[in-house]
Amino acid sequence: MKIAIGGDHVGQLLKPEIIEFLKKLGHEVKDFGTYTTERTDYPIYAKQVAESVVNGEYDKGVLICGTGVGISIAANKVKGVRAVCCSEPYSAKLSRQHNDTNILAFGSRVVGLELAKMIVEEWLSAEYEGGRHAKRVEMISEIEEKQNLDNDSNIKLNC
Ligand code: RB5
Repeated sequence: MKIAIGGDHVGQLLKPEIIEFLKKLGHEVKDFGTYTTERTDYPIYAKQVAESVVNGEYDKGVLICGTGVGISIAANKVKGVRAVCCSEPYSAKLSRQHNDTNILAFGSRVVGLELAKMIVEEWLSAEYEGGRHAKRVEMISEIEEKQNLDNDSNIKLNC
């Protein structure tokens, strides 16, 4: 798989090892930064990784910040993203099977390296089941579409 990865300065405490792990699993990995532990802002990397996934350049994305919370919220603002923030493998796996998540986020202040690897591996190996879940995932997309249409008509009304 082609995996896009990114994170802020706190995520950088885990990201290099996660990249190595992903490569060992046989994935192609693109690191969107940050590349140092100098303070920066997680939305920058969330946006880059999210856009690279929704435009089809990468199959899936992995995002790391201190908690995984900020960076997953930011990624979920990009249309077509279904990012899960989780700190254990069960939710990671189910988020693929039931919710067709395309981005995984976690926090370097929350999980240690070995748990993070377990989460990543479960998430990447689980398949979306579709079926009864498909309708719900479509309903999520409908909320997104409706929001965009409302925004468009508000812009037109303001003109
Ligand atoms: C940075 O201090 C921290 O707020 C960030 O890494 C993340 O945890 C935000 O959700």
